[in-house]
Amino acid sequence: MSDNSATIETVRDEWKVLTDEYHTLEESHKSYVNSITEFTKLQNKCLKDINHQKYRLSQLRQSIKKCTTTTDEESQLRDDIVRQMDSRAAHVRDIRQSLPQPNGLYLNIVLGNINSTLLDSEQRFKYKEQYEMFKLVVTCVILVVSAMDLIFQSRVCDAILHFLLVWYHCTLTIRESILVVNGSRIKGWWRTLHFLTTILAGVMVVWPDGLIYNKFRVQFVCYICYSSFLQFLQYYYQYGCLYRLRALGERYDMDITIQGFHSWMWRGLGFLLPFLYFGYLFQFYNAYTLYNMYKYDPICVEWQVPVVAVLYFVIFLGNTMTTFLVIHQKLTGKSKVKPKLT
Ligand code: COA
Repeated sequence: MSDNSATIETVRDEWKVLTDEYHTLEESHKSYVNSITEFTKLQNKCLKDINHQKYRLSQLRQSIKKCTTTTDEESQLRDDIVRQMDSRAAHVRDIRQSLPQPNGLYLNIVLGNINSTLLDSEQRFKYKEQYEMFKLVVTCVILVVSAMDLIFQSRVCDAILHFLLVWYHCTLTIRESILVVNGSRIKGWWRTLHFLTTILAGVMVVWPDGLIYNKFRVQFVCYICYSSFLQFLQYYYQYGCLYRLRALGERYDMDITIQGFHSWMWRGLGFLLPFLYFGYLFQFYNAYTLYNMYKYDPICVEWQVPVVAVLYFVIFLGNTMTTFLVIHQKLTGKSKVKPKLT
């Protein structure tokens, strides 16, 4: 029967069916609310129990230090307990990782006091994947805008590019802080770098148009093009790491092994490093050019020139040293491969 010819009885019957369905929905919602309450209770209980474990562990460690052992058996027992305590502390740390983490000052300021912990490894993986994808997409846009800026040499393109850079790096500081809350081991410098780059782009926004600005302009836009190109290479490397580490976590001894991962990683790094270090030389060259303008050019009066020079120099130093440190840690085995989804 079509809707036009519906009788009041059919409407009543359908309404009854809908009402029954609504009761089911009410039941489901009730059990959802109960589960949330139960879930929050369990979360708080786990956090409390973790604090208890930590507190008691530290007390017992103090006590065991004061214990005097006279026989071999007693020393053996003490060593055993110490070993078990170390392993317990590591397990407690792992459990803590899966529970909500404190946001930290920056996220609290930017987002307010909300919970930014993602609960399961699947969500964390997806978030990291989206972060890499976000960088890739915005990098493409930056590359297009900077290429247009080089071709058209217009102040409007300049302004769009500078605002885009401020927004992009600012957003990255937030996304990376959320990643860190969720267990990522991003080095502090890479996050600081985005803060510095945001400041740098902000200073470029307020640099007035003039002879000095125009002298540096082309070099700056070329540098942005090169760093976007670098971002593509980094994306390829980071995305590869992300998938391989996840495969390691899922199928530990099957088609991908730690050795397999290591050989892929070193090949990737071997390819990436020369490009990265060329980028760092470019940063140094930017600092050097601006320093020369500031020092020797009589028409250079803008405060932006020495500020941007110093920022480029700090960025050059930080990048060079951190990348060197990362490679050194990898070579000496201090940075451990941590499979995802554990
Ligand atoms: N930005 C954001 N996250 C980064 C990062 C970066 N530059 N470098 C590393 N990470 C992340 C990794 O993804 C990893 O995350 P996870 O714990 O969630 O898995 C974590 O930090 C630890 O990575 P690590 O093992 O220290 O290094 P890596 O092998 O992933 O990468 C480099 C090493 C050198 C390739 C990488 O740090 C890099 O590309 N550095 C250059 C960045 C740069 O110079 N940018 C400016 C260009 S002009």
